Parts: sequence; C-alpha cells; structure tokens
Amino acid sequence: MALPNINPTTTDAWRRLKAHYTEMNNLHMKDLFAQDKERADKLTIAWDDFYVDFSKNRITEETIDYLHQLADEVKLKEAIQCQFSGEKINQTEGRAVLHTALRAPEEAEFHVDGVNVIPEIHQVKQKIERFTNEVINGDRKGYTGKSFTDVVNIGIGGSDLGPAMVVESLQFYKNHLTTHFVSNVDGDHVNEVIKKLNPETTLFVVVSKTFTTQETLSNANTIKTWFLNGANEKDIAKHFVAVSTNIESVKSFGIDESNIFPMWNWVGGRFSLWSAVGITISLAVGYQNFNNLLQGAHKMDEHFKNEDFKSNIPVTLALISVWYNNFFKAESEAVIGYSQYLNQFATYLQQGIMESNGKSVDRNGNPIDYETGTLIWGEPGTNSQHAFFQLIHQGTKLIPADFIGFAKSLHGNQDHQDKLMSNFLAQTEALLNGKTKEEVVVEGTEPSIVPFKVFKGNKPTNTIFINKLTPESLGKLIAMYEHKIFVQGIVWNIFSYDQFGVELGKQLASKILQEFNNSAINNHDSSTSNLLHYYKDLS
Ligand code: F6P
Repeated sequence: MALPNINPTTTDAWRRLKAHYTEMNNLHMKDLFAQDKERADKLTIAWDDFYVDFSKNRITEETIDYLHQLADEVKLKEAIQCQFSGEKINQTEGRAVLHTALRAPEEAEFHVDGVNVIPEIHQVKQKIERFTNEVINGDRKGYTGKSFTDVVNIGIGGSDLGPAMVVESLQFYKNHLTTHFVSNVDGDHVNEVIKKLNPETTLFVVVSKTFTTQETLSNANTIKTWFLNGANEKDIAKHFVAVSTNIESVKSFGIDESNIFPMWNWVGGRFSLWSAVGITISLAVGYQNFNNLLQGAHKMDEHFKNEDFKSNIPVTLALISVWYNNFFKAESEAVIGYSQYLNQFATYLQQGIMESNGKSVDRNGNPIDYETGTLIWGEPGTNSQHAFFQLIHQGTKLIPADFIGFAKSLHGNQDHQDKLMSNFLAQTEALLNGKTKEEVVVEGTEPSIVPFKVFKGNKPTNTIFINKLTPESLGKLIAMYEHKIFVQGIVWNIFSYDQFGVELGKQLASKILQEFNNSAINNHDSSTSNLLHYYKDLS
C-alpha cells in the first residue's frame, strides 16, 4: 500500500476553503468571540496534561468542517495507517518511517519487510540503559582509571539538534555529567569545546546515521588526534562510542564494535532522538528520564493514531497551519515557548519542519503550484517580546504563532512564574484584540501619535498549555510537532522524509575544497570565482 496521491487543490474541500477564505479574511476574531460565548470551549482540546486552545484563530466551525473534509479527501486516515504499518512511505529512498516504533512498548508489533522490529529496538534500549548506568555510577572508567565527568556529542543535523534541544530542555533533571555538543565544521567550535575538557574523564559519542558526514567525521578525527596526544590507540575503546547504521565505517574509524549502538535506516535523521541517537540525553538525565520521554511520545502517537480528527491535537494544528499557509498565504510561523528551557526548541523544529516539507515536487514528481513548508522561527518568551514581537503586533505580515507554556515552574519561584504566565496570557489576548483608535484616544494620546499606537489585532495564535515541563510532557510535545509535519506532508502531496535539497551544496563544497589546494580553478560564475580568489589570497 503506497501513500495516497491526491492533489489537494483538486478537492471539493479546497474549492470550498478558497471561497470561505474570502468571507473569513474580512472577519475580526474579536467579533467571533463576541458572537459566541462558548467559542473557547468549543475550540479547545483538553487531553492528558495538555490543554490546547485554538480558538484565537481566524476560523469558525465551518472552517474546521472544511479542513476535516480536506483531510478526508486527501485520505489522511489511510496515510496514518500506512505510516504506522511500516509501509515504505519514504518512497524516494525506499524506506519505512518508523520513529514511532522506537517509543512503542515491548508488547507492540511494528513490521518492516515482514519482520517485527520491536525486539531489536528493546535490545538496543537495554544496552543504552546498561551503558548509561555504568557511566553515571562511575563503574565505567577512562584510561587512567578515573570516572567520567564530561560527555561530548559529536554529530550534526538530526544527530545533534534533537539531543541538544532535549538536554537543554531537561536541564532541571540533569545529573553530575557535563554535556557538550560539537556540530559545526568550523574548527573554532570544536576547539572551544576541547578547551574545557580533560581527556582522562571525557566520553565521546560520535553520532552519525551514515557515518559519512563531513562535519562529524572532521570533528571526530580532530578530537581523536587531540585525545591521542596523551592516550594510546587502545584507550580509544574506553572513551569513544558511536551511534550509526554504518558499522563497518565506525569500526575503521577505530571504535570498538562493543561500543557501537546501532540504528536503522527506517529512522530519519531528524526523527532519531528516540533511538540510540538520544544516548547523550540518557547520559545527561538518566535512562529513566530518557524512557519517560519516549513514553510521552508514545502517548501522543496513540492519541494521533486513534483520536477522531475533531479532537486530535496534531491534526488540528496541522490543518490550521495549512489554512494560513495556503489560503492566507502566511509565509512563516513562530513558536514561542514561555520557558527558558525551550531555548533551542524552534531551532530544533526548523530541521524537522523545513527539511521535511520544504519540497516543490508532488508525489508524482511533478512541480506543484501551491505553497508547501512554512518557515519556522522563534525564541522563548519573554525575551522575544523585547525583540521581534513589535513586528508580529504591528507589522504588515501575518505570522501565526504557537504559544507554549507550563503551568508549574520547576524551581517553584511563584513570583517569577506569575509574571511569566501573565505575559504568556497577555500576549495572545493582545494579538487577538489589538487596540482601537478609540481606546488610544481615551488614554489621552496626542492626536498626531494616535495612528502609531493602534493595534489591529486579529493575529492568530494557538495556546499549548501543559501542566509541567517533564521528560514525559516534552516527549508528547515533540511528537505532536512530528505528527503535524506528517499531516501537512500528506495534505500537500509531497514526500516529507527525504532531503535531497541538502545535497547540491555539499557536492559543490567538496569541489571547491579541492580547488583551494590546486592552482587551477574550475569554471564558476564570476561572483563565486572572485570570492574564491579572494579567500585563497587571504587565507
Ligand atoms: O543535512 C542533511 C542530513 O542528512 C540530515 O538529514 C541529517 O540529520 C544530518 O545530515 C546528519 O546526518 P548523519 O547522521 O548521517 O551524520
């Protein structure tokens, strides 16, 4: 069974949504709230410790009906089944997409090519657990007999962003190990990290699904050379572990086979933090917390798979986003976490969302004439209020935003928490209502200044309110966005799980790298050629 293949613009729902948009474009959400006192109750999904209020959107129940009709017409239900049943829905790479299997319980069954992959996943999980406990307890020691104090994750893209974001988000739950992340091929990155390390007490985790990635191999080699300044080749086995599908290349790098944590080609890089790629998470917060993260994600998987679309959180958020992207032509979406712990959340989502849905060819290989992937950006509140919120409030662009907040503060400082949450609530209220000319005048504003103080409002937001930031709730939140990505890919009739768009630049970079060492320079456009000479002269 392949994914359905339906051009969304040919559906009846799309035609209706287009017509409906012309009415909705002129409505102010303020009026919709005034007309229906139960609007917020009707347009909220309360599930587990999540309370998702999507009432502050430029939608009515009619919009939701049409969006659900669209989901039906593009056969979303069938597509979800296709994904969970291990079909090779990453068709262009001939692979299944089963990151959901990584967080499924031991009794579950997920088949790839007729083989249940769950037993293998749980064997690797046990290996992660054993290894984590040995490092944290100090039973595993470095080459001079000392326990480990530092862990360095060497990887890039999905082999860095997921673990880095989760470790940052779960900082509160961290143990004594200090974690570092080296990703950029910029040598200053690795050198800044090395500066802080003692090789005798540092564990290096080389994470690369393919084990061919230039950045990761360069950083791993630089670190290995630095390590060998004081240690011997045989000591590598004590200090280097790897996560990869490419066992042979890991071994030829010099890593002991027993130190390899396997992963599988049916796990996409940007969805891999649930696999052994997340070993740095496990080391940083302990295996139990890592497992709780996985369990939270699994709960969201079950919700996504089984819940009616009307009360399905990822489906609802995805369809609303399609509404703005394709009908209002909104170019970007902001994700604002009202928690400093979510500092890296938007950066993490950028890969998930933009690498997946930044496509312009449909599932038949034909160019498409409608918009696909949105631009994602954001920073935590309240910092972002003092940075880019001006543009969201009073700029000319429509920027739908997700506001993510946690009712309880982890350190329990209620005074700060109340201030934080008052801002969290106030911003979406302000974005909804704006401020009229009359209201500005009543404040006694000088007439010539009045227009500058008017806020149009009618700026859409989703409020994702969660009880508390825990490994489990974070797992749910990440999985929620993963499923949102999937739903949007289905609606847009694109393949969300390949990333050929990252290849061209890599290929050209390798040619240019050779030219740095050759006197002859290939044919380039005049701009690239000038820049290349400029660099060669200066470096
Ligand atoms: O940037 C392209 C990409 O392939 C990502 O999809 C992936 O997460 C990253 O590179 C790293 O790849 P690997 O884990 O194979 O080193």
